[in-house]
Amino acid sequence: MNRLEIRRPDDFHAHVRQGPLLAQAVPMSNDFGRVLVMPNTVPHVLTAADAKAYREAIVDAGASFEPLMTISIAPSTTPEIVREASVHGVVAGKLYPDGVTTNSEGGVRDLADLEPVFRAMEECGLVLCLHGETPGVFVLDREAAFVETTLPWLVTSFPGLRIVLEHVTTAQAVDAVRAGPAHVGATITVHHLAITLDDVIGDRLEPHNFCKPVAKRPDDRAALVDAATSGDPAFFLGTDSAPHLQEAKECSGGAAGVFTAPLALAVLAEIFEARGALDRLEGFTSVHGADFYGLSPSEETVELVRHAWDVPASIDGLVPFRAGRTLGWQIVRDS
Ligand code: NCD
Ligand code: ZN
Repeated sequence: MNRLEIRRPDDFHAHVRQGPLLAQAVPMSNDFGRVLVMPNTVPHVLTAADAKAYREAIVDAGASFEPLMTISIAPSTTPEIVREASVHGVVAGKLYPDGVTTNSEGGVRDLADLEPVFRAMEECGLVLCLHGETPGVFVLDREAAFVETTLPWLVTSFPGLRIVLEHVTTAQAVDAVRAGPAHVGATITVHHLAITLDDVIGDRLEPHNFCKPVAKRPDDRAALVDAATSGDPAFFLGTDSAPHLQEAKECSGGAAGVFTAPLALAVLAEIFEARGALDRLEGFTSVHGADFYGLSPSEETVELVRHAWDVPASIDGLVPFRAGRTLGWQIVRDS
């Protein structure tokens, strides 16, 4: 097979930034029909009004995708804030435990304090998106700790709450989502399907593969590939594309985040093809997530062709995932 036409994909987790970076980051996601925009700007997107202003800035920056807006579920969030956000079209609330990733300082410490907020989200149908890592735990065990303790508490305490465990990286998380009810789903990134911790620190330090949650063991990666290519509708694409300026990555205290948006579909095609699962790519990229969020899959299509091309070393000061490597599939763009 040398060409592949699939419904236009959606990205159910991306960072399109703010300030000068916004104008660079937004067009990078234009292969997608809809993008669930993460709220971890400085300050976070906290209210309906913040989400509206951010949405307008994203459209002004040249988005051809429809931005699906989130608010950050912070210690200051109230049920009224949730209801107001829902009325104004916000689709999800993103919860960052304190300090686990980029711009999450001052995040949530005790989830029990937020019970009325989760109740309101349940009532309004706002999806709860989780950065599923427990602060303070050894870095490789943070996601497993969250999956063993916090996730079951949320699932049993709020049985009507739709929950997405974002950017899963472990076999434990995959198993928990498989075993859970249908209203608990998970996003999987492109880079976590492609790399392990060896690609971050196994040889020379590779800051452009450093993200949160960090890539894990080969067995974990295999479990993610199994889940993504299985056809199970609980698993769908959220790239977690997270561009940072090159100098913010290539330094001491370098920022976490892998920039994948413009090559996400090409890399995915390689991964699915290697599994003999190209026929399941569309479900993962364009159907399961839309279904989970109660949206219709796109009526538009995109085309991928088998064509070798080199990923540039840098795109306007942003180093993309797989920079300098040759990819075997390419997305066909109009211009
Ligand atoms: C993200 C970012 O840079 O905003 N970084 C990352 O490593 N994934 C935040 C996040 O999603 O954790
Ligand atoms: Zn993210």
